[in-house]
Amino acid sequence: MSLASYPALRPRRLRRDAATRDLVREHRLGAQDLILPVFIQDGQGLATPVASMPGVERLSIDRLLPLAEEAQGLGIRALALFPVIDGSLKDPEGCEALNPNGLVPRAVQALKAALPELALITDVALDPYTSHGQDGLIDDAGRLLNDETVAVLAQQALMQAQAGADIVAPSDMMDGRVGAIRALLEGAGQPYTRILAYSAKYASSYYGPFRDAVGSASNLGKSDKKGYQMDPGNGDEALREVALDLAEGADMVMVKPGIAYLDIVWRVKQAFKVPTFAYQVSGEYAMLKAAAAQGWLDHDAVMLETLLAFKRAGADAVLSYHALDAARLLQHAR
Ligand code: PBG
Repeated sequence: MSLASYPALRPRRLRRDAATRDLVREHRLGAQDLILPVFIQDGQGLATPVASMPGVERLSIDRLLPLAEEAQGLGIRALALFPVIDGSLKDPEGCEALNPNGLVPRAVQALKAALPELALITDVALDPYTSHGQDGLIDDAGRLLNDETVAVLAQQALMQAQAGADIVAPSDMMDGRVGAIRALLEGAGQPYTRILAYSAKYASSYYGPFRDAVGSASNLGKSDKKGYQMDPGNGDEALREVALDLAEGADMVMVKPGIAYLDIVWRVKQAFKVPTFAYQVSGEYAMLKAAAAQGWLDHDAVMLETLLAFKRAGADAVLSYHALDAARLLQHAR
C-alpha cells in the first residue's frame, strides 16, 4: 500500500467523468452472468400470471420456446426450469418426478430440439410433485426420510439427464445426494452431466412467491423446511456444506437466497475458488416490483445495481427472474 495521502491522493479524480469511471470499474454485469428461471405448465397457449411476481408467467411449452429464443438472442446462456404440476398428479411419494414423459423431460426435449446451445438446468427435488409439498419422502411424523429420498432424487436426476438436461441442480438439501446423483450418472453413461448443487440453501421466508407460483404453498400448509434447509443464523456451516458437495462431485455450488446472503457468497468464493452461483429468489424479485409499483424505487436502476452486487460478492452467475429485463437493458446500454 502506498503511504501517500491527501492531497497527493484524491479518490474523486477517478470518479470525475464517465470515461474514467468506465476504465477503472472492477466488476461488470453482462447477460452471460444471468440465468433465467422459468415456470412451466402443461397445456397449449398458456401464460398464467403469478400474482406475487408481476411480469412472471407460468408458460406452456409452446409459449416457453419464443421466450427462450429471445433470452438466447440477448446473450443469456442458461434457463432453469421449474414445473407447475397438476394437483391430480401429486402424491405422497412424488412419483410423477420420475415420469420420463412428464412435463420437465418434454420441455427439455422441446427446448434442446429448438435451441441446442441454450444450457438447461433442471431442479432435482420432489416438492412440485408431492401432495405434502416437502422436497422428499416423509415419515409418519412428517420428517424427511434422508436416504430414501436420496435414492429417488438420483433417479430423478438421471431421468432429466437422459432427457437432455445439461445441468442437474439438487435443491433439496438432503445429505449425500450429490454423491448418489454423481454415482448414478457415471454408472449410466452420463459422465458429462454437470451438477449444480444448492449447497447453502437456507430455510428462508423469501421463497413465498415461488411456492405460490408452483402451487406448493397450499400443499405445505403450516409445515416448514427447517429440518433440512439451513438455519439463517449460520455461516460456517455453509462452508461445510460446500466442502461436502464438492467432495461428492458437484461442479458448481449455489448460495440461496441472494441479497441477504452475499456474505455467504463471498466466503464460499474466497474459501473454495470454484464456480459459485447465487439465486436471487422470488421474494427479492417481489420486493423490488412492489416498491417500484409504488414509485418508491427506480426499478431498472435498483435491479442492475443489485445484480452487480452479486458479481462484486464473487458470484460467477446469478439466477434471477429479472434476467430478461436486465439483459434487454444491458443490450441498450452498449
Ligand atoms: C424447492 C425450491 C424452492 C425454490 C427453488 N426450488 C422453494 C423451497 O425450497 O420451498 C425457491 C426459489 C425462489 O423463491 O425463487 N426445491
